[in-house]
Amino acid sequence: MAEEKKYSPGVEKYIREAKTFLARQEEIRTRMQRMKFDTIAVHGLYSLEEALNRNQGAIIEPLYLATSQGYRDSDELEAALAYLIPTWCYTRIANPTTYYLEYVLALLEGYKTGCETSCVVTSSGMAAIMMAVDPFLVKQKEGPEKINFVSSIQLYGGTYQHFSVRKMKERGIEVRWVLRPEDIEEWKAKIDENTRFLYVEAPSNPQQSFCDVKALADLAHSWEIPLIFDATCATPALMRPIAYGADIVVHSLTKSITTGGLAIGGALISKKPIVTRVKNDDPNFKASFAEYVKFWPYRDNGPAASPFNALMAINDLRTLRMRMDTVSQNCQKVAEFLEKHPRVYQVDYLGLPSYKLYPLAKKYMKLVDSDDGSGQEVNRYGHLMSFRVDGPPENARKVFDRFRIIFRATDLGRIKSVATIPAISTHQQQGEEARRMADIPPQLIRLCVGAENPDDIIEDLNQALNSL
Ligand SMILES: Cc1ncc(COP(=O)(O)O)c(C=O)c1O
Repeated sequence: MAEEKKYSPGVEKYIREAKTFLARQEEIRTRMQRMKFDTIAVHGLYSLEEALNRNQGAIIEPLYLATSQGYRDSDELEAALAYLIPTWCYTRIANPTTYYLEYVLALLEGYKTGCETSCVVTSSGMAAIMMAVDPFLVKQKEGPEKINFVSSIQLYGGTYQHFSVRKMKERGIEVRWVLRPEDIEEWKAKIDENTRFLYVEAPSNPQQSFCDVKALADLAHSWEIPLIFDATCATPALMRPIAYGADIVVHSLTKSITTGGLAIGGALISKKPIVTRVKNDDPNFKASFAEYVKFWPYRDNGPAASPFNALMAINDLRTLRMRMDTVSQNCQKVAEFLEKHPRVYQVDYLGLPSYKLYPLAKKYMKLVDSDDGSGQEVNRYGHLMSFRVDGPPENARKVFDRFRIIFRATDLGRIKSVATIPAISTHQQQGEEARRMADIPPQLIRLCVGAENPDDIIEDLNQALNSL
C-alpha cells in the first residue's frame, strides 16, 4: 500500500473500507499463526467467515479463472490501480486464488522461525529463481561495474543453465562456483565487495549435497548480503531455512509440494526484513522483498502463476507434512536396500549414516511438529536419492530401461516413484566438464521414491539390477 496522502472523497471511502477489511484479515492471519503446521496447511487464510460472507459457503477456496476484476466506479478503479486497496485487477498482477496460496506458503515457511514472511507465487520454480536473483543484479553506479554472486555448483540443471548462460554468458555477471557447499571456507574465499548474494540449493538435485545453513547465513550477513536458498527438496515440512537466517527461500512448487503432478509453479518467500547492500527506492525492497517483487518486477516481467495451478498446489499442500513423512520413510527403506546391493557402488541419500553429509543433514532435516518420544523432532530426509550402477554407463541404462513400475521421467517429488539418468536428461546441457565438477557421472540414476508400498519399489529395483 502506498503511503498516506490526500485523495478525493470517493477514493478515501474505498481506502477506509479497505482498512477495515485488512484489519480483519490481519486478525485471521494472527489467529492462524498460533496454530500448528497441519492446521495452517489445511486452512490457510481461507476462513469460515470468508467462505460464508464472500463465497457462498464453499468449503474449498474458489477458483477465480477470470482474467480481470470489475470495479464499482472510477474511484474504486483509481484506488485499486494505485495499490491503495487490496485488489487483483488483472491476473498477471494478482489473483484471489493465487493469493490464498501465497499466504499459506508465507505462514508455513515462516512457521516456528520467529520471523514474519511474505510470498509471491510464480508460473514455475525457474521464474521464482529469476525473480529472487535479478533485483540484486542491477547496476548501482554509472559506468562499468563488476558484479558477482557466489553459488553452489550442485544445482538443478535448469538453475545451472540460468546462472551460467543467462547471467554469466549473456549479461557478463560473474558466477563464482562453490564445489563443496558443505565447506564454509570455500564460500569465504569466493566473496568480495562486489558479491551481491550467496545462493545454495539443499538438499540438491540430484547429488544430495548439503550445507551448514546457519554458518552460511551468518557468513552472508557478515558481508551485508542475503542468502538465497532453494529448499525445493526439503519443503517447509522438513526444513525452514529462514529459521537459521536465510533471507529468501525459493521453491519449485511443481515438486513435493504439488505431489499430485498436475501443476507447474514456483514460490519466493522472504523474511521481513532481508539483509542487502543493494540500494532501491522502494522501502519494501528490504522490508518485504516478496511484496516488492510482486508489486514491481513481477508485474512488469509477467511470470504470474495460473490460478488453476495455484488451486492444485493449495489442495496438495494440505497434506504436506504427513506425505513428506511417508515418502521419506519409504525412501529410507529403499536407500538401505540399494546400499547393500552388489550391483550398486554408491548410494547418495542424506538419511544413510554412511553418507558423508549425514551428520550435517541430521542437524537440519526434521519433520515439523513430530516427537521422537523425548520431545525432539524426528529426522526425515525427503524422498530424493541417487545411486550409481557398477560398470560402464550402459549398465545404468540397462537397469533404468528394465523398471516396471518406476516411471522413467525427468521429474521428481511425485506421489509415484520416478527415476531419471541426469547426465542424459536434466543435466545434459551443462556438458561433461561441469557435470564432473558437480559430481554427476553417467552411472548415476536419480530416484524419487513415491507413496507406493516401498517393498514393491524394492522388488522393481531388484529385478532390474539383477538383470545385469
Ligand atoms: C531443486 C529445483 N529447483 C528448481 C527447479 C525448477 O522448477 P520448475 O521446473 O518448476 O521451473 C527444479 C526442477 O526440477 C528443481 O529440482
